[in-house]
Amino acid sequence: MEITVAITGASGTIYAQRTLQLLAASGDVESINLIMSGVVPTVARVELGVDLKNADAGRVNEWLGLPADSKLIRVWRLDNLAAKPSSGSNKQAGMIIVPCSMGTLGAIASGAGTNLIHRAADVCLKEGRKLVIVPRETPLSTIHLENMLRVANAGARIIPASPGFYHRPQSIGELVDHLCFRILDQFDVTHSRHSQWTGNEVT
Ligand SMILES: Cc1cc2nc3c(=O)[nH]c(=O)nc-3n(C[C@H](O)[C@H](O)[C@H](O)COP(=O)(O)O)c2cc1C
Repeated sequence: MEITVAITGASGTIYAQRTLQLLAASGDVESINLIMSGVVPTVARVELGVDLKNADAGRVNEWLGLPADSKLIRVWRLDNLAAKPSSGSNKQAGMIIVPCSMGTLGAIASGAGTNLIHRAADVCLKEGRKLVIVPRETPLSTIHLENMLRVANAGARIIPASPGFYHRPQSIGELVDHLCFRILDQFDVTHSRHSQWTGNEVT
């Protein structure tokens, strides 16, 4: 499958990193269109200590631990409104926005987007394709909540960046993966299923 992944300037760049790594490792995904908003390098530097400024595919591969010559991920510039994900005629499985800032959420909810992330999300909604949004903010204003309801009513799936604890995570990695597994489940993408509830936990 071909899928678009957008990273925006909300806290939680690590969710994007793991989602991309898990998509790459799944064997189910042939091509990933990656779009990053302008604030991502700042958040990535603060949270992960990595430099994603003007990152090309080679730099992204290095960040994700993929082979340097991997062609899996194609990086599209945010201002390139002629990019592949900007047209409904380009058939894709859908799009994941992880993490999604309230700014990007608002732009999508208003239908008045200005960049490639907004446009690609708009395309998913109008074409009836999967759009998975992973919002991150706290507390949430009524504007944020109304925007989530608006995009959910338009067909988006909201997966808040609020990890569960019922699988007893022993590390931040396990905490993050648990949420990323839920994201992958929306596209039936293969993962380890580790932390999946079996029903045998409570006897
Ligand atoms: C370190 C850092 C953390 C941030 N965390 C959040 C957040 O969790 N949620 C949010 O909506 N905005 C957050 N912001 C603010 C957004 O980056 C800002 O609103 C930006 O305009 C969003 O633009 P974008 O949607 O194009 O990425 C954060 C900014 C920085 C620098």
